[in-house]
Amino acid sequence: MATLVTGGAGYIGSHTVVALHDAGREVVILDDFSNASRRAVDSIRGLTHRDLPVVEGDAGDADVLAAVFGGHRIDSVVHFAARKSVAESVRDPVGYYRSNLGSVVELAAAAVERGVRRLVFSSSATVYGSASSLPLTEESETVPESPYGETKLMGERILADAAAASDLTAVMLRYFNPVGAHPSGLIGEDPSGEPENLVPRIMQVAAGRRDRLEVFGADYATVDGTAVRDYVHVMDLAEGHVAALDADIAPARSRVYNLGTGSGTTVLQLLAAAGEVLGSSVLYEMAGRRPGDVEASWADCTRARDELGWRATRSLHEMLTDHWNFTHHHP
Ligand code: UD1
Repeated sequence: MATLVTGGAGYIGSHTVVALHDAGREVVILDDFSNASRRAVDSIRGLTHRDLPVVEGDAGDADVLAAVFGGHRIDSVVHFAARKSVAESVRDPVGYYRSNLGSVVELAAAAVERGVRRLVFSSSATVYGSASSLPLTEESETVPESPYGETKLMGERILADAAAASDLTAVMLRYFNPVGAHPSGLIGEDPSGEPENLVPRIMQVAAGRRDRLEVFGADYATVDGTAVRDYVHVMDLAEGHVAALDADIAPARSRVYNLGTGSGTTVLQLLAAAGEVLGSSVLYEMAGRRPGDVEASWADCTRARDELGWRATRSLHEMLTDHWNFTHHHP
């Protein structure tokens, strides 16, 4: 039996495919390569020494799913495939609802029909409201501030309802800020287009592809005035998915987990750590706040530790070293 990984050529997806293989599972990748590169598949095959099956297609297309489920013996699904830009979702909300929720609905229907026992859903800490007290627990209030965030929260609800009425168990993983790459440097974050996230932009400055980093907001009520996030190594996240596929989840048939480190880092602290890893400081300038940004966000990961037996083990230093290693080898 195999695990279907939608978006398996993407950033978190590719690392999860490798982690699943390392845990002894068979994997089938489904990806439309709209925001992932084909060379990621070559790298995954190189790392796993396996000619893993890859289906090119849209996870929201019922015909594609029928072919995938018809052609492989699939007993579990990890669903990453989605559009993930907050800014783009504000410009094209309907496109985001159609794409991100269409795939959840089609996949849930196929999974229930085919008797899939478990579906792990790629959710995000962006579902939490900015007013919640810290650290964020799975019980904190959810008030997404963008259509992208809404698609993640609605996706969770659709899957929880599907699970409550069938034999499917749904596990929603709310990631905090993923950073880093596989230590081999063979797979990593390889987006098409300009990155919006902090660490990819820092790496662009380090690689000479960007003059300097703009620090969005210096007047937050934090230790140094810059915003706080919970950065977590993508390999730790990948292992979280393996744990989520294996965990005992009863009796509600669906469960939400935060995946983070449990500690926060400011933008300036991250820049200082990057300077140490890179061996030279990263040029930056202070800029205004970015609309939609929250002041601070970090996770309480007690539930994942207690119920999944998972915790993040890799340091900020490893995240930045591995991220740079990948960027450096993939100019
Ligand atoms: C962003 C998304 C979030 C998504 C997450 C996943 C927004 C508002 N949120 O989170 O929904 O789940 O990515 O990757 O887009 N920063 C700078 N300069 C930069 C870029 C970022 O100072 O050039 C700061 C930001 O203001 C923020 C921190 O760095 O305080 C992290 O930013 P980013 O990496 O974009 O992540 P989030 O905004 O936390």
